Amino acid sequence: MVCPVPQVVLLASMVAITSAQVVHYPPAQSNINNLTFVLNGTGAPGIFNSSTTPDQSYGEYNWCNMPHVRTLEYKTPAPEYTLEYIEIIQRHHKRTPYSSNTFFKEDIPWDCTGEGPVEYGKGPSGVAADVTEIQWQATVNPENPWTTTVGPGFVNTTCQLPQITSDGIVDSHTHGSDLRAVYASRLGLGETLDPALVQIRVTNNDITSQVAGGLVKGMFPGTDNIAVLIQSDTYDSLEPVYSCPAANNLFSAYTSDSSNWTTHLTDAAPLYAKLDAVSGTATDDSAGWHTSFDHYYDNLSAKLCHSKPLPCSVNDTSLCVTQDEANTVFRLGNWEYSYYYRDAPSSTQYAAWHYGVWFLELQAHLEAVVAGQSKTKWYHNIAHDGSVAPALGFLQISNMVWPGMGSEIVFELYKNSQKAYFLRVLWGGQPMQTSTPMGTLNMIPIETFLDYINSMLGSGADLLAACQA
Ligand SMILES: *[C@@H]1O[C@H](CO)[C@@H](O)[C@H](O)[C@H]1NC(C)=O
Ligand SMILES: *[C@@H]1O[C@H](CO)[C@@H](O)[C@H](O)[C@H]1NC(C)=O
Ligand SMILES: *[C@@H]1O[C@H](CO)[C@@H](O)[C@H](O)[C@H]1NC(C)=O
Ligand SMILES: *[C@@H]1O[C@H](CO)[C@@H](O)[C@H](O)[C@H]1NC(C)=O
Ligand SMILES: *[C@@H]1O[C@H](CO)[C@@H](O)[C@H](O)[C@H]1NC(C)=O
Ligand SMILES: *[C@@H]1O[C@H](CO)[C@@H](O)[C@H](O)[C@H]1NC(C)=O
Ligand SMILES: *[C@@H]1O[C@H](CO)[C@@H](O)[C@H](O)[C@H]1NC(C)=O
Repeated sequence: MVCPVPQVVLLASMVAITSAQVVHYPPAQSNINNLTFVLNGTGAPGIFNSSTTPDQSYGEYNWCNMPHVRTLEYKTPAPEYTLEYIEIIQRHHKRTPYSSNTFFKEDIPWDCTGEGPVEYGKGPSGVAADVTEIQWQATVNPENPWTTTVGPGFVNTTCQLPQITSDGIVDSHTHGSDLRAVYASRLGLGETLDPALVQIRVTNNDITSQVAGGLVKGMFPGTDNIAVLIQSDTYDSLEPVYSCPAANNLFSAYTSDSSNWTTHLTDAAPLYAKLDAVSGTATDDSAGWHTSFDHYYDNLSAKLCHSKPLPCSVNDTSLCVTQDEANTVFRLGNWEYSYYYRDAPSSTQYAAWHYGVWFLELQAHLEAVVAGQSKTKWYHNIAHDGSVAPALGFLQISNMVWPGMGSEIVFELYKNSQKAYFLRVLWGGQPMQTSTPMGTLNMIPIETFLDYINSMLGSGADLLAACQA
């Protein structure tokens, strides 16, 4: 049934001559992208109710805290290889829901008293000398008549929606110290972050900086304050937010405008009816509850990851979302991400256009190390599911999933005794399997990887032109 013939994506809009030659290699078949199993099967596609994965099954999908590089599972390559550089892109750790995902009229409270994000500008002499640390405490004041108008975006909470929860900060710190245990000695890094050797990059969404606070303290326990890199929210390549109308049009064509996408939403009508009855969400809502399972997935999984119960109707406490229903939402959400980024024939072209700029930057970082023109040892990007997912799509991972909290891709650049460079790419702490001719990304010649990026994008000018075509 699986068609092994690679499919060259040709688009009417691609009239401009470009050196990019995107080839879609379909993903492996699994329960994740099997709609019959997703709709009619049972069980959750992994762990959804705890940040802890037992050691014996570490590597298993855990939405609350995805597997990452740790000493216990790490495989050191043969001694002729020395590690020269790593670049990491990871999703932030677990958080409250977004306010857009909270138009769910049941009352399971979120309390963040004393745990808000810290926001202040630092003077040249440092925190202790110039400024005091400022924490945001979300508040609802009944004198403001809008606060009592329960509607989209209104939640009576002391949390900033979204914010990384205190449990998510702990996970961030553990993630950092696990990475330190593997990489600090291999890269010759000390107790304190040296900005000449290590760079941290965040997006314009505060939650990535909240994660950086915990992560960096775990990575470099001697560090008290650092500067992190951030690009303008008009063209940031990490989140990403740069404008690419061609990518957006292509995405709409294979999602909202295609029955390949809408069929699963229609097939899930009975499940939607139940979830809408509990939450009080209108069947014809315009806030995105019925265009994908994203909002229900987020609202339900955030509760379970923080040991909160599944919700019941505010009008009928016997009408509740069941664990089986939540599991079906989780299967559907993973099917959606596999479709968005791997199963749809145009998904590879979409990933190239939508996330290509970040890969151009990665390419430049790798080339600079190989050319002996960079001192950087560790470049660490803290981002979102909307960043890690297209990165996985670009690399054409064999088994796509919805990247859970803290999910991580590590690009390890090695040099052998003949001074040749090789790349190993780790996903969930292990070499990533792709559907491309590169196969498993385990010590492949760096030229092979750079050629692949080039085949996907051409030059920066090519990408800019293709996006605007
Ligand atoms: C799920 O099972 C129902 C009832 O057996 C069937 O009608 C439906 O076609 C199945 N859905 C899929 C996607 O196979
Ligand atoms: C999809 O899942 C169904 C139900 O588990 C199974 O019968 C079928 O063989 C699967 N299809 C593929 C292509 O694996
Ligand atoms: C989490 O879910 C699994 C599978 O549904 C269940 O076996 C386990 O008891 C749950 N753990 C907690 C802490 O609720
Ligand atoms: C918000 O919750 C607090 C504490 O539960 C309650 O006293 C207050 O009346 C609520 N405010 C609104 C606007 O619902
Ligand atoms: C829908 O799926 C079919 C079968 O895989 C494929 O040939 C077609 O190109 C898809 N359409 C879109 C818009 O992705
Ligand atoms: C609860 O009942 C009230 C009054 O009938 C209705 O306005 C509201 O939408 C219901 N809420 C939910 C979540 O069903
Ligand atoms: C779901 O939405 C409700 C109501 O807006 C909110 O009280 C609750 O905190 C949300 N929970 C999650 C996990 O999104």
